[in-house]
Amino acid sequence: MDKIVIQGGRPLRGSVAISGAKNAVLPVLAATLLTHGKNRITHAPEVRDVDTMLDLIGDLGGVLDSRVKGDIVLDTANIKKAEARYDLVATMRASCLVLGPLMARLGEARVSLPGGCAIGARPIDLHIKGLEAMGAVIELKEGYIHGRAKKLKGAHFCFDTVSVTGTQNLMMAATLAEGETVLENAAREPEVSFLAEVLKRSGADIEGAGTDTIVIRGVSEIRPLDCRIFADRIETATYLIAGAITGGEVEVRDCIPAHVEPVILKLREAGVTVQENGEVLYVKANGGIKAVNIRTQPHPGFPTDVQAQFMALMAIAQGQSVIMETVFENRFMHAAELKRLGSEILIEGHTAVVSGVPYLSGAPVMATDLRASASLVLAGLAARGETLVSRVYHIDRGYVSMEKKLSNLGASIRRVK
Ligand code: UD1
Repeated sequence: MDKIVIQGGRPLRGSVAISGAKNAVLPVLAATLLTHGKNRITHAPEVRDVDTMLDLIGDLGGVLDSRVKGDIVLDTANIKKAEARYDLVATMRASCLVLGPLMARLGEARVSLPGGCAIGARPIDLHIKGLEAMGAVIELKEGYIHGRAKKLKGAHFCFDTVSVTGTQNLMMAATLAEGETVLENAAREPEVSFLAEVLKRSGADIEGAGTDTIVIRGVSEIRPLDCRIFADRIETATYLIAGAITGGEVEVRDCIPAHVEPVILKLREAGVTVQENGEVLYVKANGGIKAVNIRTQPHPGFPTDVQAQFMALMAIAQGQSVIMETVFENRFMHAAELKRLGSEILIEGHTAVVSGVPYLSGAPVMATDLRASASLVLAGLAARGETLVSRVYHIDRGYVSMEKKLSNLGASIRRVK
């Protein structure tokens, strides 16, 4: 298994380009299952989760006509199989995004239950309840969700909790359902609005995406999808924090500053200089990071996917920072590893209290999930001495060439087998 070795303590300098958003391309790939033909997707990030989704769609009968770097042509004319296998779903929870499209297209779906995961139980009960409201009959047996519906019918559904993939799943199912569907307490993440835009361009009738009420009027068919994936906001935030935590000066380009506004505001509150210029963000810090409090929330609040990386920054801040995780019930696994690097963190339920220390010291650490692994890399960049991060396959699920991008910025970082 690969590991990443970092010699910390070097301020990052230079420019880094942001890749396409993992969480935008996965639902779009799932939505190709609603179409019969050649779907064109450009600027997809070359990460493991995209490979997994393509394998899954291939297993259902999709044909990958071409894939040149991030440009994908995916033919979904012959989707025949309705079963998403356990071995594919187990490695990526977002596989459950095929549930809605398969139900809408084939009137049936068998999708393995995603099971537990490192950041909490993460049930998909709301996806299931929503489909039931649309007339599906759903059974859970032998570890699979088995849904059937001759024709899904429009419904009025209110999410108990805001769910990003839940909203996307039901929006896709409703696109080909009979009649009107109203989704209330819907997720407002940019990845939800983007999916709606892409579907609309192919003939879907969707209004209100980006607000908490989405109205979808079912249509009989949609044309193959054609889109360019927008910049990854979590990768953008990670490189902003990389600049800040190393006391460096970094230009983060090809990004969408508006998507990372809550992170920019917190960085500025912490004393970091962040300037915006079109699709470029410029970050500068020279030590003297101030402790600030954060509370994760669904968009447009502070993203849970940046909580771990921000905790790494707070580990070397002056003062005490209170970090509240309100989206997931168990998302502080990185804290124990950050402590191995010398940080002082106290966890009490959904709250972490981080008392900043003057410096971190390199140590061997283990990545536990995708964003946790990014936080360990960031902490390693700031730490004195050598940090060895193991289980980096988590990083490869969602970050494009992280160690290459960081070494181009002057970090001493390499991958070892
Ligand atoms: C998506 C993102 C993930 C991000 C998360 C929150 C993708 C592929 N992944 O994950 O990176 O961390 O949003 O911004 O876009 N819940 C239920 N029942 C359900 C569904 C969700 O109780 O049926 C709960 C979850 O356990 C969690 C909360 O709702 O506590 C939010 O989860 P959700 O928005 O669904 O996360 P994902 O869509 O899986």
